Amino acid sequence: MKLDKYLAEAAVGTRKLVRNYVKAGKITVNGQAVLEPALEIDENNDIIEYLGEAVIHLGKIYFMFHKPSGCVTARKDEENPTVLEYFSPEHQKGLFPVGRLDKDTEGFLLLTNDGEFSHGLMHPKQHVEKTYFFWAYGTLDEEAMESLKLGVIIGDEEELAKAIKIEVKEQGRYQELKDNMNFVNRKEIRINPYEQSVVSGYLTISEGRKHQVKRMLKAVGCYVAYLKRVSIAGVYLDETLEQGQYRELTSEELKALSMAGKSE
Ligand code: URA
Repeated sequence: MKLDKYLAEAAVGTRKLVRNYVKAGKITVNGQAVLEPALEIDENNDIIEYLGEAVIHLGKIYFMFHKPSGCVTARKDEENPTVLEYFSPEHQKGLFPVGRLDKDTEGFLLLTNDGEFSHGLMHPKQHVEKTYFFWAYGTLDEEAMESLKLGVIIGDEEELAKAIKIEVKEQGRYQELKDNMNFVNRKEIRINPYEQSVVSGYLTISEGRKHQVKRMLKAVGCYVAYLKRVSIAGVYLDETLEQGQYRELTSEELKALSMAGKSE
């Protein structure tokens, strides 16, 4: 591998910046200063140092993160904790989230340092399926479910948003189901909560428009109180992961997700 690629992948800096570091003599290979950014190195055996410190190159990494509510899917934020703050400093290097979840949405978020993998999964033409579990105020009858499958209007001059699949799990009055709505940060409702209808279920979509699930359910009169992403491309959130915890993807999970992000 070329030295500048190796350094950039190890998050020493951007490709441009690391080239300048090399030219400025800040990088050594096996103890020798080298001035050629395109030098071929043996990444398995050579010892690369930046200002006398060993450069740790973890290669490509892929994590499954159980996002809690209250943190934002961004690399930096002035006001809120970010998803990256849940990662150890050595894992944070070069890591970024694949797509985003709203601040109040929980569940499965992928993080990686592999731009190509992320780009593939995010590309609209790949139609990668994502399934969300929801609790909403309102009712979902056959007609509403049919509308969701046919496509609903979620914004001016936007294409119809379609559900790949919609499944109701529980439906009834808040008074009867409130104990099952065992999530925190419940959204307030203004009308008498005891008479209010509530519904839970799973909605699968293959796009990633902003607040898409909330806007789709709103289009059929349901107001999302809780949202959790449970799967991406058939890979399920590991329920042994507590909120805020992460682990590396298994090779099967990585394979399934890589396939989903590749064109036929
Ligand atoms: N749809 C939403 O409305 N919010 C999310 O966070 C993800 C999908």
